[in-house]
Amino acid sequence: MDLQLAHQPAIIIGAAQGIGRAIAEAFAREGARVGLIDRDPRVSETAAEIAAATGATVVAETADVVSETDMQAAADSLRDRIGPARHVVFAAGVGSGKFGFPFTRVPPADWRRVLDINVLGAVHSAHAFAPQLIAGGDGGTFLFLVSVAGQIGSQTDPPYSAAKAAQINFMQCLARDLAPHGIRSNALSPGMVRTGLNQSVWAASQADLPEADRQDYPTWAGEKIRRVSPLGRWQEPEEFGATAVFLASPLARNITGQTLNIDGGQVMHS
Ligand SMILES: NC(=O)c1ccc[n+]([C@@H]2O[C@H](COP(=O)([O-])OP(=O)(O)OC[C@H]3O[C@@H](n4cnc5c(N)ncnc54)[C@H](O)[C@@H]3O)[C@@H](O)[C@H]2O)c1
Repeated sequence: MDLQLAHQPAIIIGAAQGIGRAIAEAFAREGARVGLIDRDPRVSETAAEIAAATGATVVAETADVVSETDMQAAADSLRDRIGPARHVVFAAGVGSGKFGFPFTRVPPADWRRVLDINVLGAVHSAHAFAPQLIAGGDGGTFLFLVSVAGQIGSQTDPPYSAAKAAQINFMQCLARDLAPHGIRSNALSPGMVRTGLNQSVWAASQADLPEADRQDYPTWAGEKIRRVSPLGRWQEPEEFGATAVFLASPLARNITGQTLNIDGGQVMHS
């Protein structure tokens, strides 16, 4: 099926690895012109690998989403290299690196970095790219990678949960603000995806346990998935790629302001 994304500039932020990388691959396979942003300089290798595998134009910028200046410079540079952005995906994210139950285990000072990257990072990205979409005058989309944690008061990592809830609210704010320009804004919410971030949640949960109570990553993840997810299986990065290109396409022209859970049924909306 032709999703009509060919030659459209698509920006993926947090694309060096994990879910962001898979989304970048999906846009490249649709023939989009793809711009990757990550603070990890290996994002350039990722861009070269995706370009080689798909034949698409894929370029990269190294930038930290915490820096408004960095993000504006990356947005300006990518506009010059692949054209004004039409689709923007915010997939950068971090947890606190601590197990947060009860909440007093994560002191307020540890909240700042999590809020800076997840919340201010999303805000900086929207400020840097929205003017390009608006000036294009032909619609476009924003997509934010959020989390089930932002919808259920998860106790695992309170600053992360709060940041994800804020991202969902900001996504809805953009959906309303930008609708008159024909620009849509949505969120994808993963449950359990085998990535560096997911592994860091496991590592934090084991840190203070007595040796005898510790679990290896597959055992911990398997038990958690069976406990929380009706379908009882991992989600794969490629599933987010497939859904991201669908949401960017004209097939989704009436979908905005929505949080779509790809989580095996962990969170169900009425
Ligand atoms: N993996 C899961 O199980 C899971 C579950 C729920 C939500 N999520 C969300 O999905 C998104 C993608 O996560 P992932 O699992 O692919 O993680 P990941 O760690 O594999 O990838 C995250 C990417 O973001 C980049 N990044 C982090 N901080 C940055 C910064 N300050 N500036 C620029 N880039 C930065 C990293 O370098 C990395 O390339 C995140 O928003 C995460 O919160 C993941």
